[in-house]
Amino acid sequence: MDEAAVEQAAQLLASTSSLCISTGAGMSAESGIDTFRDESGLWTKVKPEEFATPQAFQRDPVKVWEWYRWRRRELAKVEPHDGHRVLADWEERVSDFTLVTKNVDGLHHRAGSTKVIELHGRLDVVRCTGCKYEVIGLDDLGADPHCPECSQRLRPGVVWFGEALPPGALDAAFFAAQRCDTMVVVGTSGVVQPAASLVDAAKAHGAYVIEVNPNPTELSYLADVCLRGGCQRTLPALDAAWRRLAS
Ligand code: APR
Repeated sequence: MDEAAVEQAAQLLASTSSLCISTGAGMSAESGIDTFRDESGLWTKVKPEEFATPQAFQRDPVKVWEWYRWRRRELAKVEPHDGHRVLADWEERVSDFTLVTKNVDGLHHRAGSTKVIELHGRLDVVRCTGCKYEVIGLDDLGADPHCPECSQRLRPGVVWFGEALPPGALDAAFFAAQRCDTMVVVGTSGVVQPAASLVDAAKAHGAYVIEVNPNPTELSYLADVCLRGGCQRTLPALDAAWRRLAS
């Protein structure tokens, strides 16, 4: 780990009164959840247009559900790691704090975070395509589940390609990005819009940007400090350096 970079990032955090964190799939990689675009990522194994669009679901709901049932089973096996717990602690350290995530695994909540905006929905939510019914949990609901209230088909509570983000979520995320002093961008390749533009929004009004990612990304050029490493170790190291400065 680059100690000088960790120190520099800690100094930025020490003078921050409005902090926005943006996390992507790499945040959960060390919990055991595959990312999307890395070497063994989900989109190297299946085509998004066959599993993650409304059209795919309409064409073959059983096939789409089969993939989501597998992902829900995988999610039931994993736990948040120390990096998730550090971000939950940071809520207490900065008065204006927002965590924006594209992750659908709910691990930030399970680690104790409460100020979370989930842009892409939740894998542990299943909702009705016809009414407002939804059910939370990872129980297997079968090959082609239907609503107990209106008999329409149930679907995974995630946002698919071509769909709108949950109402209010994007506005709240941009509001946080546009007022923060520092944004920490963790584990995202930065290719999926509109989430990637949050960093531009932060930078445009003069915020500092810290990137935590083992690899360079589309967003690295916007970063004031790049911490090259997995977030499970890097975030606790950054937390420790920040605490040393504060003591
Ligand atoms: N710590 C931090 N970052 C990591 C780690 C780790 N341990 N392991 C991998 N990464 C980084 C990779 O280097 C890569 O930059 O995580 C990033 C994962 O990128 P993507 O798979 O593209 O995930 P993300 O940017 O979150 O975009 C995923 O795409 O298809 C959509 O809806 C889907 O929300 C999802 C979005």
